[in-house]
Amino acid sequence: MKLVKLIANLGYGSRKEVAAMFRDGRITDAEGEVLYADDRVEHDAIRVDGAPLDPPAGLALMLHKPTGYTCSTKDPGRVIYDLLPSRYRLRSPLLSPVGRLDRDTSGLLLMTDDGQLLHRIVSPKSHLPKVYEATLASDLRGDEAAVFAGGTLMLESEKTPLAPATLEVLGPRRAWLTLTEGRYHQVRRMFAAVGNHVEALHRPRIGGLALDDLPAGQWRALGAADLQRLFESAVP
Ligand code: URA
Repeated sequence: MKLVKLIANLGYGSRKEVAAMFRDGRITDAEGEVLYADDRVEHDAIRVDGAPLDPPAGLALMLHKPTGYTCSTKDPGRVIYDLLPSRYRLRSPLLSPVGRLDRDTSGLLLMTDDGQLLHRIVSPKSHLPKVYEATLASDLRGDEAAVFAGGTLMLESEKTPLAPATLEVLGPRRAWLTLTEGRYHQVRRMFAAVGNHVEALHRPRIGGLALDDLPAGQWRALGAADLQRLFESAVP
């Protein structure tokens, strides 16, 4: 891809604005050699005002999504992109959420512009466990863990039963539910199927990666060690 397009796609400005940055000699290689709009240079070798391109190629990040934000670019209300640098919304390829959390769900959301990574995370073959903490409207009745673990539960309008899921009871109305798939509103629909209602839902962990003390509304880029941890605890 020509440099002018690549840099504009990262949200540094319109093509015209970025062309002006080239004319001003602000775009260089790592040695400070001025680059031109039509050059084709590796992402990692490009500098803008002496700084490496932000973000680097193949960005993956984790966001602590608060409730009240939609995983969308267009929703008229608050969207997850409001929590990231404004340039990120203009990037191409877009930084996409890996799976979705409902507007009323908080917790760990992964985002990436790396299509291969995205497919690896969502692929059923990866069996990445996703842990949800559910706060319920009614007391658990006692048979939920067996129903969810059975691998036969059919949700309305689904053609195949759910994969076995693990329920860990934390209190009369609180539980962790670990899923290895991600169907539409799955946790809420699973509890509805056993006569309950989810009042609050939070996802603290995906695979071996946890939110830990990342505050709500904050994000951080993931490094190689984070990605390794993410895939470490895949269910065999
Ligand atoms: N299941 C749900 O019901 N909602 C989410 O946001 C995620 C999983």
